[in-house]
Amino acid sequence: MFNRAWLHESIHMQLAALQAVGFAVGGIHAALYLRNRTKDLNLKAVKIAMVFGAAASLAQPFAGHFAGQSIAELQPAKLAAMESHFATSRHAPVYLGGIPNMEKQTVEWGIAIPGLLSLLAHNELNAEVKGLDQFPRENWPPVLVCHVAFQVMVAIGTAMAMLGGVFFWFLSRGDFPRWFLRLLVLFIPLGAVAIEAGWIVTEVGRQPWIIYGIVRTRDAVTPVPGMVYHFYLFVALYLGLAAATLWLLRRQILAVQKGEARAL
Ligand code: HEM
Repeated sequence: MFNRAWLHESIHMQLAALQAVGFAVGGIHAALYLRNRTKDLNLKAVKIAMVFGAAASLAQPFAGHFAGQSIAELQPAKLAAMESHFATSRHAPVYLGGIPNMEKQTVEWGIAIPGLLSLLAHNELNAEVKGLDQFPRENWPPVLVCHVAFQVMVAIGTAMAMLGGVFFWFLSRGDFPRWFLRLLVLFIPLGAVAIEAGWIVTEVGRQPWIIYGIVRTRDAVTPVPGMVYHFYLFVALYLGLAAATLWLLRRQILAVQKGEARAL
């Protein structure tokens, strides 16, 4: 557990869990509120869930920055892949959006912010950031996947942080306009999307290694036959758990609507 990645990954993941669940629960209650169902209860629930979701979302960019600085040191090829930073350079840019062109080794259709990658990775606008050119081609992680997943995670994180700030503003005024509650409904699945994108950055970004720099993933694949059936079994298990959770949540929500929830 206590390897060199544990601190930044644990902080980042705990906050991710709080913000994803806070926004999902807040969004579900916002939807019920907008449909005129048990208004007081749903508005209180929006506030309770969103206090956690919004606070975590405001802290998350700092935790993400800490994670970025750690991987600049521990796994520079991952940083280079997720930023599509092909050539080692000073004053390295961050790209907003864009698709890496692997042949030309450039980013197309992205908006470059010069110096920001140097600043984020090493606290200095002019610092040198290692590019993919520092690593043999067979040791590059899949650049496109890392780049897109990173962009998705950060875009959702930025939007959630902004929405979190707006939430506290409306909370202090004691009134939430309907457009804000509608926005919360849109965000119900986005925390989970950002978590998946984040894990893609972490796990695809460390390829081709399963033990970093020592054992390649392809050398660790077991030759034992029939493993695919375990995979099917676990997929079925998790689909079953997901279905049961949805069913229980739906039953709980309907019970509350009918005023039957004894706990309340
Ligand atoms: C706000 C800007 C964000 C930045 C700068 C950022 C940065 C990063 C970085 C650099 C990694 C790779 C860490 C590693 O490989 O060790 C990562 C992973 C991850 N991110 Fe983000 N992230 C941000 C927002 C988010 C959001 C909003 C979520 C989810 C709600 C999220 C969830 C994750 C998860 C689950 C991982 C994999 C586990 C971990 O490394 O902790 N991130 N992020």
